[in-house]
Amino acid sequence: MIITVGNTKGGVGKTTIAVNLAVEAARDGKKVLLVDTDPQGSSIAFRAEREKDDIRAIALVSDKLHKDIKEFSAAFDWIVIDAGGRDNAIFRSAVAACDLFLLPVLPSQFDVWAAADAIAVFKEIQPFNGMIGRMVLNMVRPNTIVSSEAQEALAVYQDDIPLLSEQLHNRVAYKASISNGQGVTEYEPSGKAAEETIILYKELMQLKNN
Ligand SMILES: Nc1ncnc2c1ncn2[C@@H]1O[C@H](COP(=O)(O)OP(=O)(O)O)[C@@H](O)[C@H]1O
Ligand SMILES: [Mg+2]
Repeated sequence: MIITVGNTKGGVGKTTIAVNLAVEAARDGKKVLLVDTDPQGSSIAFRAEREKDDIRAIALVSDKLHKDIKEFSAAFDWIVIDAGGRDNAIFRSAVAACDLFLLPVLPSQFDVWAAADAIAVFKEIQPFNGMIGRMVLNMVRPNTIVSSEAQEALAVYQDDIPLLSEQLHNRVAYKASISNGQGVTEYEPSGKAAEETIILYKELMQLKNN
């Protein structure tokens, strides 16, 4: 299973979600490779801080990623690609490389508008590789109506790239865990961030059933 966490916009939580899904898959006993396509190298930096060696990480800042990844897919159960924040050949290659495209969107009108760019890329490539796509709302503020407005606005994409029912909320644990190289489930196992991350992981697992 190759999952690309991507958006052409920066700051939406691509790296945060990619590393937390990688941790969940590793905790689930899967052999995990984290692929960083962002020249900033945040996922690589996360791995560098991580004490456990249960996640391999490589930087592949390449527009041939969709070809080169094949070499790795036999050796790993789960490959998580953290796909950088702009629409370029590298981003397109990361979309083309996956079985499941996960698009994090923040609950704001600007972010809903910006999601259209990544969705256009997904729709262009999807017929060629048959991947599935899902959106996930991230950094939702608990008890606000903004997220339900965003959900309504995103409903127009329902047929192409449906919104997952699980949302991730704005929680300190997502920031604090990173500097230890930990996922939120390790940093604060009984916290709410851990709870929603586990549900998100399970929801994705059910989609691909592997
Ligand atoms: N659910 C969340 N709750 C709190 N902070 C978050 C959450 N998701 C991401 N962040 C923070 O938002 C910022 C951007 O997230 P990041 O994962 O780096 O985005 P991207 O990789 O899309 O640029 C970081 O400071 C990160 O810690
Ligand atoms: Mg990032």
